[in-house]
Amino acid sequence: MRSQLQAPLRPAPPPPPGIRPFARDDVPALVPVMWDAYRGTPDEADVGGPEGAAREIRLALGGEYGRFLPGASFVAEDGGRPVGAALVTHYAGLPLLAFLFVRRSHAGRGFGQALVRAVMHVLAEQGHDTLSLAVTRRNRRARQLYDRLGFVEVA
Ligand SMILES: CC(C)(COP(=O)(O)OP(=O)(O)OC[C@H]1O[C@@H](n2cnc3c(N)ncnc32)[C@H](O)[C@@H]1OP(=O)(O)O)[C@@H](O)C(=O)NCCC(=O)NCCS
Repeated sequence: MRSQLQAPLRPAPPPPPGIRPFARDDVPALVPVMWDAYRGTPDEADVGGPEGAAREIRLALGGEYGRFLPGASFVAEDGGRPVGAALVTHYAGLPLLAFLFVRRSHAGRGFGQALVRAVMHVLAEQGHDTLSLAVTRRNRRARQLYDRLGFVEVA
């Protein structure tokens, strides 16, 4: 069971150090990061393994979840290596946070929140007024994060 959430976009501070724009060259490094992040969570089956992570990233970039917005997508780095990402598309008339993940070794340090804030900052600057996403009801951790960032359930 998934909930649709939306947050209003207002002018927001720019991303902190460690959060940088996504580049297509990041994909090979992000595949194992994505699987590491999802493994053991309520959404594990959606990814299924490293091949599944590669598939999901490929589908997101290829437009399967709406037109990919590279300019609104971000990577979190630690020591020059990707440890998480937020991948954003344009779906059903709104920007969509299609994927958000942070590797388990780096969880709970604020990377997830910083990634979503970076997305919200750049989308607000581009003139968008709403960010949408879908989250599994049982994914308490992600829901808490979105709650704190002002997302509310719309369906
Ligand atoms: C959800 C996810 C992106 C959070 O990333 P993160 O970098 O750990 O998040 P943050 O450190 O910014 O923490 C944000 C909030 O998450 C919650 N959180 C963080 N660490 C937690 C932990 N160890 N246990 C429970 N909740 C935790 C808290 O609400 C936290 O806010 P607070 O500490 O200010 O109260 C990450 O856990 C993840 O990749 N999960 C698997 C993929 C996924 O479910 N993505 C979302 C799909 S919609």
